[in-house]
Amino acid sequence: MSSVLHKDSKMNPSPESSNDSGNASIHELMERRLVSRRSFLASSAGMTAAAVVGGTALDALSNPAEAHGWPGDRWPPADGRIGFDGVSPNVNSGFIDAVTVPAGYSASVLAAWGDPLDLGPAWNPANPMTEAVQVRSFGSHTDGMHYFPYPGALGNIRGLLAVNNEYCDPPLVNGITPAAAYATTTVTLPMVRAQQAAHGVTIVAVEKDREGRWSVNRRSPFNRRITGNTLCRLSGPVAGHELVKTAADPTGTRVLGTLNNCAHGYTPWGTYLTCEENWNGYFSNETGGVEGVIDIDRKFQIIKGQTRYGVVKGGFGYRWHEVDDRFRADFNPNEPNRFGWVVEIDPWNPKAMPVKRTAMGRVKHENAMVVVGADRKVAFYMGDDERNEYLYKFVCARRLNPIGRAMDRDMLDKGTLYVARFHGNGTGEWLPLVHGQNGLTAENGFRDQAEVLVKTRQAADRLGATMMDRPEWIAAHPVTREVYMTLTNNSRRGEKAASSNSIDGTTNAASARPSVDAANPRPDNDFGHIIRWREHHGDVGATTFDWDIFVNCGDKLTNKQLDVSDPSPVYDPTDLSGVGYKGDINGDDYGAPDGLWFDKDGRLWIQTDQVGNATGDWVNIGSNVMMCANPKTGETRRFLTSPRNCEVTGVISTPDGRTMFVGIQHPGEDWKTSFTDNSTWPDSGVNGRTSHSRAGATKPRSGIVVIIKDDGGVIGT
Ligand code: FEO
Ligand code: CA
Ligand code: CA
Repeated sequence: MSSVLHKDSKMNPSPESSNDSGNASIHELMERRLVSRRSFLASSAGMTAAAVVGGTALDALSNPAEAHGWPGDRWPPADGRIGFDGVSPNVNSGFIDAVTVPAGYSASVLAAWGDPLDLGPAWNPANPMTEAVQVRSFGSHTDGMHYFPYPGALGNIRGLLAVNNEYCDPPLVNGITPAAAYATTTVTLPMVRAQQAAHGVTIVAVEKDREGRWSVNRRSPFNRRITGNTLCRLSGPVAGHELVKTAADPTGTRVLGTLNNCAHGYTPWGTYLTCEENWNGYFSNETGGVEGVIDIDRKFQIIKGQTRYGVVKGGFGYRWHEVDDRFRADFNPNEPNRFGWVVEIDPWNPKAMPVKRTAMGRVKHENAMVVVGADRKVAFYMGDDERNEYLYKFVCARRLNPIGRAMDRDMLDKGTLYVARFHGNGTGEWLPLVHGQNGLTAENGFRDQAEVLVKTRQAADRLGATMMDRPEWIAAHPVTREVYMTLTNNSRRGEKAASSNSIDGTTNAASARPSVDAANPRPDNDFGHIIRWREHHGDVGATTFDWDIFVNCGDKLTNKQLDVSDPSPVYDPTDLSGVGYKGDINGDDYGAPDGLWFDKDGRLWIQTDQVGNATGDWVNIGSNVMMCANPKTGETRRFLTSPRNCEVTGVISTPDGRTMFVGIQHPGEDWKTSFTDNSTWPDSGVNGRTSHSRAGATKPRSGIVVIIKDDGGVIGT
């Protein structure tokens, strides 16, 4: 099963060289970081305040995100003020195939798909990608990312970027033009192995030189690729369970690879979380059956389990199943159960095996946002990104240890997973997904907690969770612990003949047609909205919360009218007469919010994912964007516009807020044509020199830009 190219290399350690247990090295590293941080913080004005409030300063000593603070810190003041003039939308009259930022800022390419992570030769994008090259090169289609600074002030000029590589476009990887020809070409195993190697995570050391230019440090021992074939460990309640055992892994504890790594998270103990989103699309159930299973009821349960998550014949068209039986869901019905998890990675230990943390549930995970309470309780908020899916919260059983970060290593294996129900009166409740409670019993198909977790969606169906308009990223305010979540769109909400996810868990993925409700108030929600909540009593472990809608996105210039004549039995659509498709944004317009992040000063950064070609609904809004909003006033300005047919996703800064990293994913994407018909970013050189700008663009490449303020100030001020 495992590729010869994935054994024993630096980028992809073999099972023998991987350390998946105690790993002293992380402990040693943390101790070293602890010492250096102590001397740094001793002179920091912020130390006292942070130590008094919530006791999080000691945590921050070993938290690579320390200087951002994590939600709950009260320093710096986090007033969310915006200081730049917004840029114009990138619309079809004069479309710019570039990343554009406000006057006084500059954006330049840091790294793009296929750039080398070692001192070997750079890939020539004119050639097909190979597995051998890809495992030592920056992965495809950048998404969520986090910056892990080196200790102390050095962290503002040197650190590790952990970057998700969500997926790939097979025609780009395999060099097939026009892209539509991929559907009929003969797929080979080497082609698929190259694609699988393009997925996963890239960990790369980056640094700023004396002239202020950022670059990849190709000599760093931390540079690493984790791919669709890297050995991972299953941990938590599902590890070793019957539902995750396969012929290749009879122990049910070892999985090859992580896939569709969309957005991300980080932990207070210094690790990176990567979230498996549309993993179903790689599998195909070719026959509609289950090989070797004769019992009709058992077969029905397995197939319904697959369709609840969208595992169907053909998948998304990757065609891996044609040459790699692992992706035949009819031959290997448990293999899909080994995907859909939050995966924990130690960026500082290139030999550590990624760990799939099953206690956090199996869905199409968007991201995992941590919030630490004043009492050291730890919660992670997570969205399941599909139409009509749910919002989840995982509360760790243990509180953060005030001194020893090594003690927190397996915090994600024990805790309670909750799903949200939003009430029309502005309150909500967290419903526990615990075996034996609320009908999660053997009679209803849940024999134990492991089965509740493998079948997280079905368990949430049983509890009557609120169907949402595609939960995307979640971010938490650095002072108030108020939590925000993007709901990107749901064009099918409010269709006549309304239907809901069935309580027995048998609904096919995304097939319901829910009525509007208070938390998802617009039928045909093309532009999406952002919802936010506060836990009762400020307790991250609370089972009740208050919520409201931060913004309904939209286009103030549109003439399109909501069809308010739709029968909407749950919610009064007349309340929305002033909202409609126009939305209620206080400032520049945008739609399809996806990426979401709070900077250290409490500015809310919003990234979008729509078609990106400035046509149809997007004729006035233009290409995808990154917006900046003041959460207090709602004031919103357009900070960044992007090349054609890309998505803007992934944003993080250095601790001082003076360098920002932003991801540009799938520029030019169009499976019908040559992608260069739409975009030649970044090798056109329009945002600075790239590894191939001198040779000219042969295909667009996903990549990361560095944004700085020309006066050296904090981004957003
Ligand atoms: Fe990969 Fe939900 O965006
Ligand atoms: Ca996303
Ligand atoms: Ca998306």
